[in-house]
Amino acid sequence: MSSPRTTRRSIVAAFGVAALWGLTACGGGDAAGSETAAGGGGDTITVGFSQLGAESGWRTANTESVKSALTAANGIDLKFVDAQQKQENQIKALRDFITQDVDVIAFSPVIETGWDEVLQEIKDSGIPVVLVDRTVDTSVQDPYATWIGADFEQEGKTAGEWVAKNAPDAKVFELQGTLGSGAQVDREKGFDGVVGQQVVGKASGNFTRAEGKTAVEAALQTYPETNLIFTHNDDMGLGAVEAIEAAGKVPGKDVQIVSVDGVRDGLQALVDGKFNYVVECNPVFGDQLATLVKDVAAGKEVPKETIVQDQAFDQTTTQADVDARKY
Ligand code: AHR
Repeated sequence: MSSPRTTRRSIVAAFGVAALWGLTACGGGDAAGSETAAGGGGDTITVGFSQLGAESGWRTANTESVKSALTAANGIDLKFVDAQQKQENQIKALRDFITQDVDVIAFSPVIETGWDEVLQEIKDSGIPVVLVDRTVDTSVQDPYATWIGADFEQEGKTAGEWVAKNAPDAKVFELQGTLGSGAQVDREKGFDGVVGQQVVGKASGNFTRAEGKTAVEAALQTYPETNLIFTHNDDMGLGAVEAIEAAGKVPGKDVQIVSVDGVRDGLQALVDGKFNYVVECNPVFGDQLATLVKDVAAGKEVPKETIVQDQAFDQTTTQADVDARKY
């Protein structure tokens, strides 16, 4: 994971809640007023959430979790916008949220860079930002109040450790997620830090099944020695299964697959012997996000980062485990 920078909220917390009202009043006028109302009187908190897309089973599960927690019954008016994996759509949505003068802006940045201008605009508006899932790399000081997401670097490291132990001679093709995204950058860093010397080639499948299949079709031509694929998510891994089978090989045997996410389809592939190991990335953190959003709106002290806990699955995983999976 990229190091989340010192947040506006953490500075606010350091000064205490009383100082918060002074800071937000200087920065945002109406936004500060909304925070006061939302935090103190139990009024509805308006949250603008820019989801980066619907590219994967993980993303769908994450969206469902967010929508089921950030509800009117929970005191939140959610304005949800799907950016379809385009940064320009996210930037437009963020600017719309400023115009709408929401109480809190939350977003999952599709890539890490390119946010400086809009983050400065949000900061100038006084609206606090809650960063969700992925991280940003920006020159803006204290660009967000808090961040919640997984430890992507640890996920890559866990996958690499499995390869080091179980397939130390494997020739690895690394199927990367969206280039420049926190999930791609950090999973690659974690994995390559353990078994980078085994990686014979890399290409991006943009976290989608279709592009994962295309990337692996090409990789099996370019790197015919490949006998293990580390895929940055399950959807691309399922695309890899299709490409491997189309090439007359057996996924899980001729070409082993180590994946990240642990959505039901990924775990089914594990039970079916087509995946060999899956490192979980847990998308179900809507309740934690709702709590953070409320605390930020109320001017309460919040942790600078919240790491969502993951586990890992090997081929001892059972059909009952898959059937019990919620997403
Ligand atoms: O940022 C989390 C990643 O994004 C998930 O691993 C992947 O499935 C999704 O597209």
